[in-house]
This record gives sequence, structure tokens and C-alpha cells, in this order.
Amino acid sequence: MAQSHQEPGLVADDVARFVPQDVDPASLPRSFALVEPMPAQAPVPGTWRSTPEFETDGPWAATLAVEAGTSLYGTGEVAGPLLRNGFVTEAWATQPFRIEADGTPVPNYDERSKSLYQAHPWVLAVRRDGTAFGVLADTTYRLEIDLRAGVRFSCETPFPVLVIEGARPQDVVRRLAELTGRIELPPRWSLGYHQCRFSYHPDSRVRALADEFRARKIPCDVIWIDIHYMDAYKVFTFDPEGFPNPRATNDQLHERGFRSVWILDPAIKVEPGYLVYEEGVAERHFLLDAEGREHREWTWPGDAAFPDYTRPETRAWWARHTAELLEHEMDGLWVDLNEPSPILPLGAELPDDVQHRGGGDIAPGSHAQYHNVYGLLMSKATNDAMRAARPDRRPFVLTRSSFIGGQRYAATWTGDNVSSFEHFGWSVPMVLNLGLSGQPNSGPDIGGFAGTPTPELFARWIGLGALLPFSRTHSALDEGDQEPWSFGPEVEAIARTALERRYRLLPYLYTLFREAAVTGLPVARPVFFADPVDPSLRSEDQSFLLGTDVLVVPASLGAAHRAPRLPRGRWRPFTLAGEDPETSPAHPVLRLREGAILPVGPGGETTGEAFEGPLTLLVSLDAAGRAEGRLYEDAGDGFGHLEGGYRLTTFAATSEEGRVRVDVAAVEGRYPGKLRGFDVVVL
Ligand code: NOJ
Repeated sequence: MAQSHQEPGLVADDVARFVPQDVDPASLPRSFALVEPMPAQAPVPGTWRSTPEFETDGPWAATLAVEAGTSLYGTGEVAGPLLRNGFVTEAWATQPFRIEADGTPVPNYDERSKSLYQAHPWVLAVRRDGTAFGVLADTTYRLEIDLRAGVRFSCETPFPVLVIEGARPQDVVRRLAELTGRIELPPRWSLGYHQCRFSYHPDSRVRALADEFRARKIPCDVIWIDIHYMDAYKVFTFDPEGFPNPRATNDQLHERGFRSVWILDPAIKVEPGYLVYEEGVAERHFLLDAEGREHREWTWPGDAAFPDYTRPETRAWWARHTAELLEHEMDGLWVDLNEPSPILPLGAELPDDVQHRGGGDIAPGSHAQYHNVYGLLMSKATNDAMRAARPDRRPFVLTRSSFIGGQRYAATWTGDNVSSFEHFGWSVPMVLNLGLSGQPNSGPDIGGFAGTPTPELFARWIGLGALLPFSRTHSALDEGDQEPWSFGPEVEAIARTALERRYRLLPYLYTLFREAAVTGLPVARPVFFADPVDPSLRSEDQSFLLGTDVLVVPASLGAAHRAPRLPRGRWRPFTLAGEDPETSPAHPVLRLREGAILPVGPGGETTGEAFEGPLTLLVSLDAAGRAEGRLYEDAGDGFGHLEGGYRLTTFAATSEEGRVRVDVAAVEGRYPGKLRGFDVVVL
């Protein structure tokens, strides 16, 4: 039986909160999505357009009807198309797996996967008229999201629903970010290209890799160190043979102009004599089973126990070990397997009745309640640790599992994808839906994690991946090499050019990251943002926008895919590194919106170089002969920008009698030093 909500309340003009009838709002668990609790201030007006109907018999459910012509997006990390109408998924952090034809289970996903590593109980709906609303089921419990007829959430426990109204989808996404938090501006080096594999080991291989990048003059900033650096996969230890001196490894990387990111798994090997385990036992840091015994699962190091990150003491303990690790001068940390996932048997999960003991503002609760925020809390603990250990540096954390709002603590990648054209094709829609769900900093494993790409696939993937917010190649254990030069000289040249394009675009990309940190608007945006009323753009998910000004149009994925649908108006093509997308389809075509000025840098092999030297302003005049663009600059690290230590320059172009003139129209912030010189190129 459908029941209505009780005492719906506006928490702001454009946000309403609904609670099922007969549920005392005070009895609902605290929100992990929202930055602050949101008390209702006023009754919802009768003109409110989208209101949930609750069901309270059977599983708890909330349904919102949608008008014909409404397009649905969001739901966080999901494989398949951008447009989510017709899909049924689950907000439940999962290490997904598939059964191969011969019956072997393999850890990866496809568009039928009900849930992936992250959980976002959130849907963005764009009505036919271009207005939009967003729906947040504010619960951490397992939640089904059924988009076959409108929006329907269902769950075993009661949950409140927040509805955000917006004149345009952008307004809803901004509002979501106000409620659930925004990213911190990442360190500038993290916008460079990242090279990873499972695993670069031993340390001499890491050095050789770094030298190879420089010898071949391929832009790269970051090398990643996967689990083999540890001693028998014991967290916070080092393999005495492979990585006897991690500090020296990091120093050598730094001398070569690289940064490093090292992995941390949550699971702690059960082993008497292993300090981290013994402390965990003595200080009661581990999750307990229903009988109050330490809960164990089989992970990389064998039997292991799991830190209870709901406990403030456990987060502090984690932070202490993380700080010790950072004494070896890692630049960033990668937190993995934090759905949390046992390694064997594949698909295993911690039982629902495992106990989290909580503390501070987190109540004790079952794993059913806290499973979905395990990754978020581990990200938070790790981010807090980096912040405390290095108060002058911006933390960089990448996490596999997360929850809506997790962008506050970490960037994400799209997990264990496959070296196939199908997975390649999901790169853009996955990044876009994450962006529409509050996470602007994400990207796929370029080239695919499982399997080895063909040269053509790798070329296509790095050509595209170089233009996504987080740009990292990664591949699995026992797979072929996936360095830019692993596929022969032709692909190497394509990879170099692709990365040169990224490095030239960095001043603009950094400006977009700054915008994401301030407004919550994603870096990579769906094409329909350019014209939310144009129905033909609603399912375009191979082309995308960087900010509002740059349109990225990859070559078609073959006959099965239709030609890209592009927004109206003039979008002028431009090139950055001598590329010719006509003859080399690995490079997406770049187009600049009419009326925009794009600041591009000189490029270089490192972000250090790419943010210095003269700028080029590419100008695309509108019909009235005008254009405008913005450039954000700061120290690239640290927190001075929060105290005004930045410069946001607005450039304005006008044209008169065939002559184009570019002026600095406005400057905001107090960044020392003069604005760099710039050349102007009119497209
Ligand atoms: C699983 C992660 O998804 C993958 O990226 C990583 O390489 C392996 N764990 C090993 O750490």
C-alpha cells in the first residue's frame, strides 16, 4: 500500500526532505552522505514538482513518478551507457565478478553487474523541458535503485529521501555538492599522467621505468607501487629484498621528476609477532563477528582481520602507521579492496552481522549498516593521516570503494576493467555518471586491467584517457606490458602525442579542478549540459565536455555506434601537439565553443614544466566577435590558495575591423608574481 510521507520539510528553497509516515525522523541513523544534518525549516509548497510516495509494508520503498521524456543519470559507478532509464542497480559496494564460458569466475564487470565498488544512492533526472531534479536516498544500507518506471528505491530499513530541484541539471549537481561536499583541490602533480601495474617490482624496475620515460621523452609524473612492495602482503611493511630502502626509491623518483603513489589494503594479516596485527588485537581495532570474536577473511596475506574504521581510536591508529609510512616520502596513497573484499572465495563479503563498534558521532552498528561506508571511512582515515603528517601538502588518496560524498577524501578509478573495446566504450559514461554523482576526479585503467589490449585498443584508450580527469594506465598481474612503448613505435608516438595534448591542456584542466573544488561541477561533463533542452544530446556518451568550453569527440566505435550528437552552435576544431585525428583516430577531435578563450600551456614532460612558460590563448569568437576565458593559478600544492594565494584571471577578446584584441578583464586573488606572457591564436 502506498503511503505518503509525513511532515515533508524544505531544508532550503530548492531542497526538500521526506520521511515515511509513522517513522520518527530522530530514530533514523545519522547521514554519511551529508556534510551536515539538514533540519527542515519550512513546509514543502504545493508547487513542488517531484514528491516521493513511500511504501512501508514489505521492504521500505520510495517511488517518484517521472514525466515522459525524463532522462535518468547518476547512480554513481555503473558500467554501460550514460543514460540509466531502464536499469536496475544496487547501492552496495561490491567486488564484482563474472563467470567465464568455462565456468571460471573472474573479477570484473559488465553492464549487467548490479553493483560495483562504490555506492551512490542518488539519481539525477532531467525533464523534457530541461529542468532537473535529483533524488538522494539517504541511507547506508543496501538499496535497490530501479529506473524501469520512474525512480524507485527499496531497502530493508526506513530511509529519508532528499529531493533537489533545479532550473538546469547543473544546478542540481552544484546543490548536491553543497550538501555532500566537494573535492579538495588536488596537488597539481596529480593532474599529470600516471603509470601503474600490478606490480612494478623490485625497486630497480621502478627506477628503470622512470628512466625509460625520460629517455623516450614521454610525459609522466607519477609511478605507482602495487602490493608486491610489502613483505608477504603485510600492510605497513616492506619486502626486504625487493624494496629494502623505500625512501631511496622515492628519492630517486623525485630526482627524476616523478612522484610516487603506494598502495594500502585494509586487511591485516593474522600473524603473531607482526606488530600491526598485535597492536590491533591489543587495542581492539578489528571488526568482531556476532559472537564478539575477531572476524577473519582470506585475503592476499592469508587469514586477515579488518580495521574497524568507525572507531575514532582505530582511525587514529591507522593514521599513526600511515604517518610512519610517509616518512619514506611517498607522495600519495592508494587504498584498495575496501568494499571490503576478501580475496577468496571470489565474491565473498563480510557477513551482515559483523559488528562495528563506532564511537564519537558514529553509533555502533552492524556490517549491514556500515558496509557501504567502509571505503569512505578508510579514505577519510588515510586523508586525515596525510593531512596531519604533512600540514603543508595537499593529500592525494585514490580509493576503490567509496560512498556518495566520498569525493571529500579521495579520487576514484573504475576498478578492474577489461582490455576490450566494450570496456573502453564505458570509460566516458562511467566517468560522467560519477561526475553527476558528486565525484569529479576519476578515470578508468587505461588499456584495461584484465587482459592485454591490442595495439589499436591501447592507442585508442590512451588517446582518450589522456583527456579524462584522472589519467592512469594500469594492468593486472601476469598480463603483458602496458607502457606507452609496449606496442611498437607507432603506438608509442600516438601515446606521446596524446600525453603532450594533456600536458598542454593542464592550465585549463587545473582551472576546471579548481571550479570543481569550489562549485562541485564536474571536470568532464555530459554533452547535454551544453543544451539540456535538446533531446538528441541526452544519450550522447562518447563525446563529452571538459568544463563548458572544450568538446572532446572520439572517433566512432564502429558501425554499432551512431555518429556523435553534438550541441548546436559553432565548435571550432583545434590541435595541440601536431596531431591529425583524421589520419590517427586514436586522438579525439577537440573543439572550442564559440565565445570561449582556452588557455593552453607549453606542455612538457612533467607538470612542473607544463605550468611554467608562456601561455597560448586560443580564441573562438562568437557571432558578435567576442570571447571570454578563465585561468586559475596557484602554488600547485599546499593551502595558501585558501587564504587568497591564487590568481583567477578572466581574459576577454573583442574584434574590430578584422583585428582581435585580448585584454585581462578581471583578476581575482593575491598570487605573487606577474601573469605569464601569452600569445593569441584566433581559430
Ligand atoms: C585490486 C585492484 O583493483 C587492482 O587495481 C590492484 O592492482 C590489485 N587489487 C592488487 O593490489
